[in-house]
Amino acid sequence: MTQWQALRGELLGFNRDPGDGETPRAGAIAHYPDGVVLIRDGVIEAVDHHAALAPRLTDDVAVAHYPDQLIMPGFIDPHLHFSQLDIIASHGRQLIDWLNTYTFPEEIRLNDRDYAEALADGFIRQLLAHGTTTALAFCTSHPNSVNALFERAERERMRLIAGKVMMDRNAPQALCDTVESSVRDSRALMQQWHGRGRLEYAVTPRFAPTSTPEQLAAAGRLWQEDPGMVMQTHLCENRAEIDWVAELYPEASDYLDVYQRAGLLGPRSVFAHAIHIDDDMRARLRDGGGAIAFCPGSNTFLGSGLFDRRAAQAAGIPVGLATDIGAGPALSQLTTLSDAYKVCQLKGDTLTPWQAFDALTRGNARMLGLEDRIGRLAPGMEADLVVLDPASTPLMARKQAHQPTLGEKLFNLMMLGDDRTIAATWVLGRLAHERA
Ligand code: GUN
Ligand code: ZN
Repeated sequence: MTQWQALRGELLGFNRDPGDGETPRAGAIAHYPDGVVLIRDGVIEAVDHHAALAPRLTDDVAVAHYPDQLIMPGFIDPHLHFSQLDIIASHGRQLIDWLNTYTFPEEIRLNDRDYAEALADGFIRQLLAHGTTTALAFCTSHPNSVNALFERAERERMRLIAGKVMMDRNAPQALCDTVESSVRDSRALMQQWHGRGRLEYAVTPRFAPTSTPEQLAAAGRLWQEDPGMVMQTHLCENRAEIDWVAELYPEASDYLDVYQRAGLLGPRSVFAHAIHIDDDMRARLRDGGGAIAFCPGSNTFLGSGLFDRRAAQAAGIPVGLATDIGAGPALSQLTTLSDAYKVCQLKGDTLTPWQAFDALTRGNARMLGLEDRIGRLAPGMEADLVVLDPASTPLMARKQAHQPTLGEKLFNLMMLGDDRTIAATWVLGRLAHERA
């Protein structure tokens, strides 16, 4: 039987790049002060003003009414580590020390199936509580971690992309695989999960320092078995890391060249960070079809550096916005916007609230190659939605009482919002989280 559901409230979505002006370009936003998203079997059937859709809200349509709230497409997080949820906010190191001190010891625990399952449950719940409905996630090198995460996401009917980390050197033995085992395990997981429901597998070499050149090349060949898949890794995050890569790969002309030689740059390749890159690398990323996940919370937390968003976008590289937990100290994509705004300010760039929310929804969907499925309020899109409460804290309520314009309201949300701001999260037309 057909399932009908509707959400009513103020609606905002983005249909194209809003530009960098104070007001969005004509046609960029879909805004309905009192609108309805009509959902049929989890897919958006219609989006319009309430007055226009009222005749279709018949008795068989369940209506969730959210007066005074703002309904948007669910947030998308294109780079984070499921395994690092519980070591989030670990004090005081830069990348390599932080990995050795906190990250690797925790990741070893995910070999245990029960541990991985309990963590996957907590992780999915936390994502939904923060309004994130789709993520591109690193698991660990253990197949158990991937199975646990996909199983939990499947129960929630979430759209999720994830992969087994490939790493065969420069880490504790208990985390290292081998060229052969990493390919065998990744391929088995790919066959089991890729394209099952809303799940996709991603080829996931951790980063150049923890793989041998042979393993990176094997990852490149594995990706070629289904080039429609996502490939995710890390690039040029930290100065010491970059020096280390130069020592480990003397034959490569730079860090990106290490991946290019292995066949790891192509459409749907996602490189986290890419802070310390030059125009030549930008041009090669663009020409190769790579995208960058900008992780401002992580980059400031680990003291990695300030990403130049404007330069990347001017070069024509798709740039997504991500939390990168556990190096990022917040799961809230609203907090990511606040961090991104400040990083941009320090780079002489400005992130408008229109660009910010476009990035979390349509932009992140586009950089993952999912723009025809999620990220917009339009018929045919999967009904993943977040309900935002612009008066969710006493301070936000004060600002809201001044009757801000829509642009001001968005800016308040991104600078002051967090998980308290997420009134509800809907996944494929079903309520998946409601604020207590
Ligand atoms: N580079 C390699 N692994 C990691 C990781 O887990 N987190 C971050 N931020 N950078 C990495
Ligand atoms: Zn990362």
